[in-house]
Amino acid sequence: MTSWLRSVLMPVQGTSYAGSVDHLYFFLLYLSAFFFLLIAGLLAFFVIRYRRRSADDRTPHITHHAGLEAAWTIIPLVIALGIFFWGFRTYMEAAVSPGDAMEIQVTAKKWVWQFEYPNGTRSLNELHIPLGKPVRLVMTSEDVIHSFYVPTFRLKQDVVPDTYTQLWFQPTEPGMHRLLCAEYCGKGHSDMGGKIFVDDEKKYNDWLETGGDEGKNMPLVQFGALLYASRGCQTCHSLDGARGDGPSFKGVFGHPVTLQDGRTVLADENYVRESILQPQAKVVAGFDPIMPTFQGMLREREIGALVEFVKAQK
Ligand code: CUA
Repeated sequence: MTSWLRSVLMPVQGTSYAGSVDHLYFFLLYLSAFFFLLIAGLLAFFVIRYRRRSADDRTPHITHHAGLEAAWTIIPLVIALGIFFWGFRTYMEAAVSPGDAMEIQVTAKKWVWQFEYPNGTRSLNELHIPLGKPVRLVMTSEDVIHSFYVPTFRLKQDVVPDTYTQLWFQPTEPGMHRLLCAEYCGKGHSDMGGKIFVDDEKKYNDWLETGGDEGKNMPLVQFGALLYASRGCQTCHSLDGARGDGPSFKGVFGHPVTLQDGRTVLADENYVRESILQPQAKVVAGFDPIMPTFQGMLREREIGALVEFVKAQK
């Protein structure tokens, strides 16, 4: 019954912790269902059993029943305390990471997730982790409050500027898991997602080695289109000329661009490159300087691919 209901109500259990959360959740669900049926059933029963039968039907004077009152005080108290300690234990399971957990640094910013691995490899909106190994995330934000939320892991943690929050888990389910931002953080909030890839040790190590060179066998423009979608560019830069938080890519390349300070520059390869790495250097007139830098977060070939992609948006 529970496993069937779980498959209907819940996403797969991606961590050992997810099992603990589901246990408690279904206990609460069944407990609530039991009391709902008990109370609603008694209500219906009393309405019928003690209905007014004639105009001069009088209710007898009832004071109290000590045994009954003690029962409905003590039984819920015991249940509530039980739930408290069960919930506390489950919370502590998620709050205290084992000492041998691998640490990954997470930086959230409008509207991307950046990950840095122990060997210095970085990735954007894509977290790769080995199956069955405990992983600890040390998280902070560069701007507003975001929230790291993975439904299949049953984990959610606020990511706050000027402080570190942490999260740990031990993935038990290989494959792709969805990462969402669960704290409203502005216009791009609903696009601030990512993917978590849980791979076996070998595949994970291969990925770390190559830094996940996903566009290896792809033409640059096509690779650029992939990066445009996966690295968060699309949250601000449209391709159809529509105004977003940043200028549209349509028809930019090869044309003069008016900047905030009144200068006009030609949008060539170097201009696009600089706009990716030092976005504040040349801010387009009419836009706020809100773009985060991608310095150190993109490999050379990825920058080249994005330049080619912008160039292709005629
Ligand atoms: Cu970041 Cu919502």
